[in-house]
Amino acid sequence: MKKDVPTHVAIIMDGNGRWANAKKMPRNAGHKVGSETLQDIVEYAEELGISYITVYAFSTENWSRPKEEVDGIMKLLDNYLSSAIKKASYKSIRAKVIGRKDELSPKLVEKIEKLEHLTRDKKGICVIFAINYGGRDEIVRAIAKMATDLEKDTLKIQDISEDMVTKYLDTADIPDPDFLIRTSGELRTSNFLPWQLAYSEFYFTNKMWPDFSRSDFDLAINEYTNRKRRFGKSE
Ligand code: IPE
Ligand code: IPE
Ligand code: MG
Repeated sequence: MKKDVPTHVAIIMDGNGRWANAKKMPRNAGHKVGSETLQDIVEYAEELGISYITVYAFSTENWSRPKEEVDGIMKLLDNYLSSAIKKASYKSIRAKVIGRKDELSPKLVEKIEKLEHLTRDKKGICVIFAINYGGRDEIVRAIAKMATDLEKDTLKIQDISEDMVTKYLDTADIPDPDFLIRTSGELRTSNFLPWQLAYSEFYFTNKMWPDFSRSDFDLAINEYTNRKRRFGKSE
């Protein structure tokens, strides 16, 4: 299997709320189990030889949820980061966070930076957490940075190219995802990586994220290996 696995898998981890509702549990219980699913799938992705995994943890639109739910998700992210920081010395994972940091609590940003720093030279799977991430917001921030550099004359209009734009995005050093998985049956991308997913293969499953297992991941990866990517070429 190792040979054909995608280099980079992106996941929209959706369905935590519905999973909890169906069990008459609070939505935050769904997010908790969802974070355990994430730990397991990351470990498995590394075993399969996948090099990058980007996961949508919190969108710029998710602030419009009830405060109790937003606080619950932020607490879970905080716990996740703390535990990753504790394990960093003996794990091979390299962690990175994309998204808008200036709206996150300073305590969370501190942990993000600490984890990124501690794992920067790790040689295992690179896990990219999209926290307060919105694709349009990322592009707007990139445009503002480019405009600043044009003004400072460190960027020339004639140097603006697809490669150059890519360098201004949060994902600057990361190759585009080969494969996008969305759980929960929704058939949309919800502002996730609009630039980077331009040529990715998409896979949708009705499984709710807390129920998504290693064998569901196998099914998805198997389907990927049977896809034919053409990138606009004729055969
Ligand atoms: C995904 O699950 C997790 C986040 C958006 C943080 P949801 O919370 O969106 O679950 P559903 O879609 O309401 O079931
Ligand atoms: C996308 O899921 C965001 C995350 C998984 C973090 P949503 O549940 O927020 O997306 P919509 O609202 O169904 O499009
Ligand atoms: Mg949802």
